[in-house]
Amino acid sequence: MSKVTFRYISQEDILALNIPYEDVINAVEKVMSEFSKGTCQLPVKIHVNSRPQTYINAMPAYIGGENEAQGMKWIAGYPNNRNKGLPVTWGLMVMNDCETGGVTAVMDARWITAIRTAAVAAVTAKYCKVKDTNTITIIGAGEQGRSNARLMKIVIPELKRIYIGDLYDAAIDAYLKKMQPLMPDVEFIPIRNDEERQKAIDNSQILITATQRSDKPIIYTEMLHKGMLGIPLESTAWEGKTYNWADRFVCDDVNLVKQYLADGKYTDGLPKDEDLLILGDIINGKKCGRASEDEFVITSSHGIALSDVALGQMILEKAEKQGVGTVLTLMEEADIIR
Ligand SMILES: NC(=O)c1ccc[n+]([C@@H]2O[C@H](COP(=O)([O-])OP(=O)(O)OC[C@H]3O[C@@H](n4cnc5c(N)ncnc54)[C@H](O)[C@@H]3O)[C@@H](O)[C@H]2O)c1
Repeated sequence: MSKVTFRYISQEDILALNIPYEDVINAVEKVMSEFSKGTCQLPVKIHVNSRPQTYINAMPAYIGGENEAQGMKWIAGYPNNRNKGLPVTWGLMVMNDCETGGVTAVMDARWITAIRTAAVAAVTAKYCKVKDTNTITIIGAGEQGRSNARLMKIVIPELKRIYIGDLYDAAIDAYLKKMQPLMPDVEFIPIRNDEERQKAIDNSQILITATQRSDKPIIYTEMLHKGMLGIPLESTAWEGKTYNWADRFVCDDVNLVKQYLADGKYTDGLPKDEDLLILGDIINGKKCGRASEDEFVITSSHGIALSDVALGQMILEKAEKQGVGTVLTLMEEADIIR
């Protein structure tokens, strides 16, 4: 056996690759489509919770088809990290060779998580929005609030206006300072109170919430109107009955949604099994993402490892080609008995 190595790819290495967001959206759309064909393996994620309101999830997946890949994400969510100047969501991604199982790469998972989550929302919008979508509301001016704005604009080039709300005025101000120069042809409008939030929702075709898990919903059914696409990124921010009030329910993975149901995250239950649509089936034309301009479509994608592995593979291939990252030795020889 010759020396075994793998590539270590830090967050800054990933940023140095300058991966176009369009490539991420395409990769996510492709892997969701592959999932719908039945060629992938996606065990339900497992977790440990060392503190209240926290998690570390283990998320393995195998992508079949022409561009097979496999790996696992080990990702933590610690909301109080914000007060310590640390990322709320962070962790590692491990990629494995499909023939040998050998580790091919270990990389930062923070960028992957931030961007692939927004890409799933963007692909959902591509298939489930009303035709004339020019205004969206985002509640939660954090990492997801930022990445969702960036990627939505790619699938909706005609997007003109983004209303942005948060619990904290300082978070809104920081958001505006960061995002307005990055997206100069979008008008960003801060939401400072409940009245402004309702006006924003009334004017919007898409409503995204990217807040922290809380005990009480922040979005109630009576705040919504038909013809919208609703994108909650957390499990409990929307009133439970909204999931049944919606005309269409779209998710990334039905098994995962059922796990959240069993955990009590959908307080008023879910639509019938045959009405739980997966995004991949919509992409592949097996199901319809929106039947009319009047429908209220709700999406409930909790995040699946297939999109992480798809991005991990893309990052690894680009890093190998460009010589980015650090090649580390895992083992020098097979004999370990001393
Ligand atoms: N579905 C997925 O695949 C997926 C992936 C990653 C993150 N998430 C979820 O997305 C959410 C946002 O993640 P993030 O990384 O952007 O977190 P973040 O901490 O960076 O940002 C959250 C923002 O929401 C604000 N906020 C909290 N509660 C609020 C409330 N009640 N009303 C208004 N604003 C409120 C906070 O002040 C903060 O600015 C989290 O719940 C996270 O678990 C989901």
